[in-house]
Amino acid sequence: MIDQIHITEDDTFVDLGSGVGQVVLQVAALTPCKVCVGIEKADTPCKYAMEMDRLYTKWMRWYGKRHSEYRLRKGDFLKKEHRENITTSSIVFVNNFAFGPTVDHQLKEVFADLRDGARIVSSKSFCPLNFRITDRNLSDIGTIMHVSELSPMKGSVSWTGKPVSYFLHIIDRTKVCAMKVAVYVCMSVSGGNILSVF
Ligand SMILES: C[S@@+](CC[C@H](N)C(=O)[O-])C[C@H]1O[C@@H](n2cnc3c(N)ncnc32)[C@H](O)[C@@H]1O
Repeated sequence: MIDQIHITEDDTFVDLGSGVGQVVLQVAALTPCKVCVGIEKADTPCKYAMEMDRLYTKWMRWYGKRHSEYRLRKGDFLKKEHRENITTSSIVFVNNFAFGPTVDHQLKEVFADLRDGARIVSSKSFCPLNFRITDRNLSDIGTIMHVSELSPMKGSVSWTGKPVSYFLHIIDRTKVCAMKVAVYVCMSVSGGNILSVF
C-alpha cells in the first residue's frame, strides 16, 4: 500500500481495526504522514499493541530513526466518539476481509461523510469494480467513489491460503453531481416529474 498510494505530510491516516498496531507503526515509520491513528476494540490485540508501542519507541529512538506522530486507541470504530476522527482523515485503511455485511454497511455510512479526495484502502471492496451510476442506485456509496484494485505484492504473506488483494477507493462527488444534472435535464426536456428523481 505504502508503495502504491503516495502519502504526504498533508495526510492523516487511520486504521479501522488496527489489531496489534503494526500497520499504523509502519506507516508512521515509512511516510511523512501528519498523524497515524489505529482503533482496535479487542482486548488481546490491544494488550500486544501496548507492547508494540513500547518496543517501537525504544528501538526507533535507539537507532535514531524519525517517525510520524501516531496513536493506538482502544475502542469501537463504529462508536460516535471516533466518527469525526475518521471522517476528517484523508486515508482510511481497513482490513475488512472477514467483516460481515452489517459492519461493512455501517462503515459505508461513515464513509459517506469523508471529504472529496479521501482515500480508503480495504481488503474487500465497498462497491463493485464495474459500478455504473443509474437512476436506481443513486443512494449507493459507489456513486461518490472511484474504486480500483491495487497490484498484489509479490512474496506477500497472508493468513488465508491465497494472497489478499487490496482495493483503493477515492471519494469523488462530482460523479453523482454530473448524473443528477443529466437526470434533471432529461426530466425537464421530457416534462417528467423532477421531484421524484431526487
Ligand atoms: C484482520 S484484523 C486487521 C489488523 C490490522 N489492521 C492488519 O491489517 O493487520 C481486523 C481487526 O479489526 C478489529 N475490529 C473488528 N470490528 C471492530 C470495531 N467495530 N472496532 C474496532 N476494531 C474492530 C478486530 O478485533 C481485528 O483485530
